[in-house]
Amino acid sequence: GVIDKQLVGQPENDKTTQLAAHTADGAGEHMNTNTGLPINDDQNSLKAGDRGPTLLEDFILREKITHFDHERIPERVVHARGSGAHGVFQVYEPLEEYTKAGFLNDPKRETPVFVRFSTVAGSRGSSDLARDVRGFAVRFYTPEGNFDLVGNNMPVFFIQDAIKFPDLIHAVKPEPDNEIPQAASAHDTFWDFISLMPESAHMVMWAMSDRALPRSYRMMEGFGVHTFRLINAEGKASFVKFHWKPLLGVHSVAWDEAQNISGKDPDFHRRDLWDAIESGAFPEWELGLQIIPEEDEFKYEFDLLDPTKLVPEELVPVQRVGKLTLNRNPDNFFAETEQIAFHLGHIVPGIDFSNDPLLQGRLFSYTDTQLTRLGGPNFQEIPINRPIVPVYNNQRDGFMRQTINKGKTSYSPNSLGNNDPQQVKEAEGGFVSYRERIEARKERLRNKSFFDHFSQARLFFNSQSDPEKNHIVDALTFELGKVKTVAIRERMLGILAQIDKGLATQVAYGLGLHLPTDLPTNQSIPADGDPV
Ligand code: HEM
Repeated sequence: GVIDKQLVGQPENDKTTQLAAHTADGAGEHMNTNTGLPINDDQNSLKAGDRGPTLLEDFILREKITHFDHERIPERVVHARGSGAHGVFQVYEPLEEYTKAGFLNDPKRETPVFVRFSTVAGSRGSSDLARDVRGFAVRFYTPEGNFDLVGNNMPVFFIQDAIKFPDLIHAVKPEPDNEIPQAASAHDTFWDFISLMPESAHMVMWAMSDRALPRSYRMMEGFGVHTFRLINAEGKASFVKFHWKPLLGVHSVAWDEAQNISGKDPDFHRRDLWDAIESGAFPEWELGLQIIPEEDEFKYEFDLLDPTKLVPEELVPVQRVGKLTLNRNPDNFFAETEQIAFHLGHIVPGIDFSNDPLLQGRLFSYTDTQLTRLGGPNFQEIPINRPIVPVYNNQRDGFMRQTINKGKTSYSPNSLGNNDPQQVKEAEGGFVSYRERIEARKERLRNKSFFDHFSQARLFFNSQSDPEKNHIVDALTFELGKVKTVAIRERMLGILAQIDKGLATQVAYGLGLHLPTDLPTNQSIPADGDPV
């Protein structure tokens, strides 16, 4: 009686059926211990006499308390606070011209998905409406394996190279001596770092805009940020940027509303997503693609591999190719939303990486952190992480191994086994990395094509309406107003002046400071590539 009860009334697909096999529902069942012993009294510990002491012998008490003592796992080092939901994805038309990915080619196929939205800086219990970037991570459960599109609600990022990620996060997280402030970027260490990293200028404009205060997770855009590759059946590649376009439109709250809401209902976004799905108002997004032919790699003024740049939609329109619908809340927050382990390295045939140096570093980071967060090498066996296809390979053992592998051999080649898994030829669906030609010197540097930090920041500011521009001015004035070190405020004014003089002047006025007079021009990294 422990399985399958939840399936009634739920959308059925390969993933929900698989998850149902792991669900437990105790309603009407007998209570027992983890070894199956029926429990007669769950209210009283075993005592010597009516008034104690409690006996060490009480294994029922010990089992219950031991399990409780170990209920917590480390929260995610970033994106700790999140909310998830199940759903489906369906492509409108086959995209065979660009990709052989199965889920992008069969309009009849409903691909099960799990989505997790998150804030970045706050801890697990922080407020939903902090001024922050939002994570928008989507897992597609396909017969060719799990594909994760681990994106954000902003199309660019703060840094160009993964080697700066620990610095960025150390700067934005609460300060190490007093663990203040919770879930806010308005403090010295964040702005100190930002003011010394001109490459963050574009992303900072997004983070200070209304985009950082979404009205609802249902009303956010999503972006894969990096340039990826699509590969078709002939092996031809195109570059691609992934987008999610919410069918409810993009909406934000104002800063004073955000502060009010954070005080009164820190679960504002979580509750909104949950209630919408419970009431049948299923949130929907269209998947958008910006496809760039490989021949056009060097056509633009920015580098396609630079994650602080977007590809303007006027240059490459976004084609809407399919729809994502979230239609079911998780049964258990921990087992699903908390235990899911996204990774942009989870790809399927027909999709591949680019050489974006931020992307390349992420390929290492996610599995590495999950080994600790989820307690060892078997976290892909957790129900929410299992692919919908069975897994056969020669990996074995480790903490919490669930699979009982049969046979004498777990190595290849071998002459003893008779039911070993075999490699899959490319033509039969085996994954082969894109055969990109690389001829290069091994060097630790940044290409000059990454050096223009302000043009797109300015483009973004100029794309805003007057009220939106005012919100950016107010946000910067508020945030920098919390910075105690005057030199940091002044250095930020220098950065802002390179984006837009008017913007910098207004923020300076709000802060009661003068604009620095010796402003550099729109180039703050010298041509030899050393950051300022
Ligand atoms: C988690 C997005 C850059 C390391 C996440 C999550 C998202 C995300 C959405 C939450 C996943 C979830 O809900 O479970 C992004 C985007 C990036 C970016 C869009 C830049 C374009 C990086 C970089 C690194 C990194 C450069 C490290 C080099 C991590 C780690 C986690 C994480 C360690 C926690 C994963 C876990 O514990 O499961 N990221 N991230 N991220 N990200 Fe990133």
